[in-house]
Amino acid sequence: MLCQPAIRSLTVLAPAKLNLFLRVVRRRSDGFHDLETVMTAINLFDTLHFESSETSEISLRVVMAQSRNSHSFPAESIPTGADNLVLRAAHLLREYAGGTAGVRMTLVKRIPSAAGMGGGSSDAAAALGGLNRFWNLARTRVELLDLAGQLGSDVGFFLGGRSTAICRGRGELVEPLELPTCLHFVIARPASGLSTPEVFRHCRPGDKQRSLSEFVDSLKGQRLDRMVRLLLNDLQSPAESLNEDVKNLRQKFDLLPVLGHQMSGSGTSYFGVCASSRHARMIAARLSASGVPWVYVARSC
Ligand code: C5P
Repeated sequence: MLCQPAIRSLTVLAPAKLNLFLRVVRRRSDGFHDLETVMTAINLFDTLHFESSETSEISLRVVMAQSRNSHSFPAESIPTGADNLVLRAAHLLREYAGGTAGVRMTLVKRIPSAAGMGGGSSDAAAALGGLNRFWNLARTRVELLDLAGQLGSDVGFFLGGRSTAICRGRGELVEPLELPTCLHFVIARPASGLSTPEVFRHCRPGDKQRSLSEFVDSLKGQRLDRMVRLLLNDLQSPAESLNEDVKNLRQKFDLLPVLGHQMSGSGTSYFGVCASSRHARMIAARLSASGVPWVYVARSC
């Protein structure tokens, strides 16, 4: 999360993420699943803007960023009511800190929703971190992490300020990971999305035995050839059984000269690992020409 402070206003960038490795370890009695996942933030950002308010009202306006891809994601798909994670984060933080100040927020959306790219969670983290500064609350990182955990499993990752991390538990236990180099990606998202709880309901924990430490070693050692062979997402198979578009994307990527590919999070976004940004742009052009409605070239730092 990056901040650009200004008098009486503040703008915060909320990055998207990709899951490079996602193992569902076990189903828990509280309805969640224990995970081992490696997440990396990428250079695709929502923007959250805060302006002071004369009243104690907390308000949010959601705007879809104009881009050639934006037609696929209508503004109606983003909740703007009390269940929006940005509003929930703002009310939770104000209640916790015992404040009364209001704020006028504008969220500019670029990250597709229901795509497994953490857009809602990142926006929530941007609200927590941004309002902690904007309202001058001086809450500690530990306090904010606790609030993040109440908002969603991935929110803590985005509070961290590190671009890559191993996340365990239901995703809230974040161990930063230093990447020696940037990774390059091409990302595709079909017209349809997927519901995270629905995908988790259909997964079979522990189906594939893969080692997180081997994956992390390949990342740290810059062994890209090995890393792409160890990519894993245990949610991909249930997502493919629920959504034909994900299966179609996998089949498209199978025919493309990427180093490796898989779905991110609970889908439906799908990424290919590329050797360079030039390579990623070349694959992106081929995906767009084949009719994929949303295609993006990104890197991990
Ligand atoms: O934590 P978050 O609100 O993002 O989770 C949404 C839903 O996804 C949960 O209610 C749960 O059904 C599922 N989930 C899970 N295990 C996780 C994370 C999410 O089962 N580790």
